[in-house]
Amino acid sequence: MDNVFEQVEKNIDNLVLNNVDWTASATKEELDAARDGRLVLRFWDREIPREWLKDIRGKRVLCLAGAGGLQAPLFACAGAKVTVIDISAGMLEKDREIAARENLPIEIVKGNICDLSMFADESFDLIFNPPSLMYIPDVSVVFRECFRVLAKGGEFILMAPAPINYVCDWVEDEQGGYYKAVHRMPWCSRDFDDSGWIEYGHTMEEYLGGLTGSGFAVTGYLECQAEDITELNFLARAVKQTGE
Ligand SMILES: C[S@@+](CC[C@H](N)C(=O)[O-])C[C@H]1O[C@@H](n2cnc3c(N)ncnc32)[C@H](O)[C@@H]1O
Repeated sequence: MDNVFEQVEKNIDNLVLNNVDWTASATKEELDAARDGRLVLRFWDREIPREWLKDIRGKRVLCLAGAGGLQAPLFACAGAKVTVIDISAGMLEKDREIAARENLPIEIVKGNICDLSMFADESFDLIFNPPSLMYIPDVSVVFRECFRVLAKGGEFILMAPAPINYVCDWVEDEQGGYYKAVHRMPWCSRDFDDSGWIEYGHTMEEYLGGLTGSGFAVTGYLECQAEDITELNFLARAVKQTGE
């Protein structure tokens, strides 16, 4: 398939049908806690720092490639005005179900985060982007759009896999095997795999340099590592500078 985004949409919809871990939605307890003023968003084993999410009530929040019925319902329960955009109808259906069940006014948009032209300039105070930039060939396109739709001083929180995820391959040997660094960055699955799975390994220059190059100031950075040592992910907070 020539269109990368059509293929990604198909891939993600298939994962939803197969119930992969990260398609799990918010629990009743998490929703009730958010309603009671305890909004907790997790990034693997870490919690998003509370000060990044403070004063959320009334804020205009865009969950960017953030469907799945997890973050959007939690933000809505915490009193934010929430819009979620995602390319996967299957993932968005989860938000639709929870919004109907919990009576939450979430605006649900099916679309590609490389083109946010359906949103006016400066229409959000916070953009929350769970891991998804690995499905985007050129992250600078997304960063420019995010900068445009954020209000001055607005906050962009994003999560993504660090380059180490893509640099190494597993090599089997008599001792059980080991990782070997074999790939140059940036990396694309299509160079090694014709299964139809599409994923991009971006450099930190593309991520952090891309944010600063788009006019953001990076004001926070955290990492977390899964059991598989090359599964290192980062979380960054960037703010749209006011120029004053
Ligand atoms: C790992 S999931 C993240 C959502 C989930 N709530 C979480 O916290 O893990 C990645 C999401 O990115 C979406 N996505 C991938 N490429 C996209 C694109 N170009 N435009 C919009 N959404 C996209 C997928 O459909 C999927 O819902």
